[in-house]
Amino acid sequence: MTRFRRITNCTIVTPTGTAAQHGAAMGHLTTITDAEIHIADERIAYAGSAEAAPQAPEEGVTMLPDIDARGCVVLPGFVDSHTHLVFGGLRADEFKMRLNGASYMEIMNAGGGIQSTVNATRGADHSDLYDKALYHLKQMSAMGITTVEAKSGYGLSLDTERKLLEIISELRSSSVPMTVVATMMAAHAVPAEYNGDTEAYVDHIIADMLPQLRSLADICDVFTERGVFEIEASRRLMSAAKALGYKLKFHADEITTLGGAELAVELGALSADHLLHVGDKGVKALAASDTVATLLPLTAFALKEPYAPARRLIDAGAAVALATDFNPGSCYSYSIPLLIALACIYMNMTIEEVITALTLNGAAALGLAADTGSIEVGKYADLAILNTSNINDLPYFIGINQVGTTVYHGSAVGVDHTPTLP
Ligand code: NIG
Ligand code: FE
Repeated sequence: MTRFRRITNCTIVTPTGTAAQHGAAMGHLTTITDAEIHIADERIAYAGSAEAAPQAPEEGVTMLPDIDARGCVVLPGFVDSHTHLVFGGLRADEFKMRLNGASYMEIMNAGGGIQSTVNATRGADHSDLYDKALYHLKQMSAMGITTVEAKSGYGLSLDTERKLLEIISELRSSSVPMTVVATMMAAHAVPAEYNGDTEAYVDHIIADMLPQLRSLADICDVFTERGVFEIEASRRLMSAAKALGYKLKFHADEITTLGGAELAVELGALSADHLLHVGDKGVKALAASDTVATLLPLTAFALKEPYAPARRLIDAGAAVALATDFNPGSCYSYSIPLLIALACIYMNMTIEEVITALTLNGAAALGLAADTGSIEVGKYADLAILNTSNINDLPYFIGINQVGTTVYHGSAVGVDHTPTLP
């Protein structure tokens, strides 16, 4: 050990374990009042009552100043396990068309949607894309996010997908301390130059992109949807990805009930995401599997779609995670505070379930639950120190950031993002 620091005078609230919690267990949090957290280098060395805490080491160690949590709650840092972080351009005009009644799919079929961001992203230079993504990471960090997933998928050619994945990899060593996980999502849409020839594009992804981009991403994702990548095309693509050692994620049953959730389970995916229209079979399959059901309420909110059936999934025994889906089309938001309010108000999740969904289960949806997602000895000290002592304030203070200090791998990233209510 070379560095040691304590977080004193806190209430620890955390799920426990090194894998996702399922069903009713999602609501079981450990709460320790009058607690202390000790951090040795980047990891948690003690998390428990202040009374029973061991002495701080005396010599041979750099002692960093204590962080006094002033009686507030400390949660595990939030894990945003689904974002489309790197893109060029904005689509406010499209948002306005939707406000006037056009559907997401109508806009997409008229040449807008993902393809318009692909055009803007292909035309953008490296530093512009990087700077914008970095800006977003800073805002996310101030809301307590310590791990973020970032998908490619607005390049849709070998070179442009590589460019996006390289940017994601550079963000990892940027000035914003955060774990950045790269996901390859060339199967986000069939690019215009393929004139709708999905099979030919899938052939290209399998033959060229999957093997050549493997060193830049550990996870592969696909938009499994009617009229985009249907079940057979998705199965062919994702089986090839799996054979190369990629872990899998699916955009599943977002717009129609196609069976994406069942396919995700069949292929042993880390997660099936969206699930606004998941069918009974999909719910059953997820409940009986280790595939995390990742729900994205900010997207349902922005698209005015019905929310994913969180209660049905949890009550059936599934492991549910929550993430933002930040992207320029269906959801220009990474507001964790708003997401928490939506999940509690409209999806009928309890705040305890929401906390598990945003921490441990999010980590499991990225294959990282052994290292982060809960406040336990041995895990990284990735923490969100709130400005309140009551977790019920999280959904109640609607859309208001209540993270005071974010701690990443033992270092305070920002202090007093939002001060405590006088
Ligand atoms: O997760 N569904 C596909 N992908 C994104 C939207 C991307 C876009 O509209 O640019 C999503 O909602
Ligand atoms: Fe998405």
